[in-house]
Amino acid sequence: MKKTSTITGHVDLSIPAIVLCLLLLLPGCGNTKNEHSNHPKTLKEVLKDKFLIGVALNSRQSSGNDTAAVRIVKEHFNDIVAENCMKSIEIHPEENRYNFTQADEFVQFGVDNNLSITGHCLIWHSQLPAWFCVDENGENVSPEVLKERMKDHIYTVVGRYKGVIRGWDVVNEAILEDGSYRESKFYEILGEEFIPLAFQYAHEADPEAELYYNDYNEWYPGKRETVVRLINTLKKRGIRIDGIGMQGHLGVTNPALEAYQETIDDYVNAGVKVLITELDVSPLPEPRRIGGANLADREAYRKEIDPYTDGLPEDVAIEWNNRMMDLFDLFLKNSDNILRVTMWGVSDGDSWKNNFPVSGRTDYPLLFDRDHQPKEVVTRLIQQLSEY
Ligand code: G3I
Repeated sequence: MKKTSTITGHVDLSIPAIVLCLLLLLPGCGNTKNEHSNHPKTLKEVLKDKFLIGVALNSRQSSGNDTAAVRIVKEHFNDIVAENCMKSIEIHPEENRYNFTQADEFVQFGVDNNLSITGHCLIWHSQLPAWFCVDENGENVSPEVLKERMKDHIYTVVGRYKGVIRGWDVVNEAILEDGSYRESKFYEILGEEFIPLAFQYAHEADPEAELYYNDYNEWYPGKRETVVRLINTLKKRGIRIDGIGMQGHLGVTNPALEAYQETIDDYVNAGVKVLITELDVSPLPEPRRIGGANLADREAYRKEIDPYTDGLPEDVAIEWNNRMMDLFDLFLKNSDNILRVTMWGVSDGDSWKNNFPVSGRTDYPLLFDRDHQPKEVVTRLIQQLSEY
């Protein structure tokens, strides 16, 4: 992770941390035990030459209060992303008021633990404070006013963590499955131009930071084609884009691995890297047609779509572990072009999927269970990658 003296004094960068970071880079040897002890190898150790393995943290975890989760994060992960505390509604609740308390705490957790840190997310139609795109009468502001507000937001947030945050989800979920643009306030006022502007402002605020576009359901051909056009537009205009975040809110069978591979290929062919962001695999019945993560798509609770309140049946657990293993095999096959794989939460009990798209379900989408124990796929991955 980059450490520079340009940090604005909000985060404590200590020399020992840098020394520790260099020590952690010492090469390991091919076995399931850490060469310096009998300590079993961990995900970040076996994946260290493949891609960053990240995890989304909530504020209970970045504050250190969720000690069981923090132990897992320190042991198995080398990148963290803020699940919520950097979203505009949290960090910039009023036009002239920022609230960095939880974001600073999150970044400090990353620095203290020598983790790569990802910022999520600068421009998103959801979790957007009511003031951002309208005037005092609730009418859309002019393009010029919105540009100024976007620039102020991005300069202030990105600038605060300049040299510490590795990369940013600059724009999130701006394109629909059919390839059309989501008719958000940003799009209503600025058209497609809001995306290049956001990337330009982010780059101006931290020229070293990696910049990503992040979305879900990108295996839909229409969406994928528009994302590729976006990549081409940014590159043609000389605006930095390093990668596309493919949110991994998946089912046990949907989407097919081939569709995921085709999407990776299209993005790599367009000249960017891929990040598997927000990975969670739900074994629960998918009550909606298109899956994904559109927060507006919610369903009423029905017992029949919450079948595993007392735990996963063995056959479902086997199917889930095999699916997750197949996904990681795909990621490993593409590791030259994948910068990071991020889990959208530490353990099953933390997952947003327990309440989306149906509130109050018991889901099992992550690598660690409700008792903070690693699932079989974690052991299989470590074993498989330790044999090289
Ligand atoms: O912090 C408030 C708390 O004060 C209040 O008491 C509580 C009850 O209303 O709500 C809390 O805020 C919630 C927040 O999570 C923190 O728990 C919001 O209501 C809730 O909407 C928010 O949900 C998050 C959602 O994004 C919307 O921001 C999920 O945790 C988070 O996993 C989810 O993540 C998104 C990615 O950012 C983008 N991609 C899709 C993904 C899933 O929607």
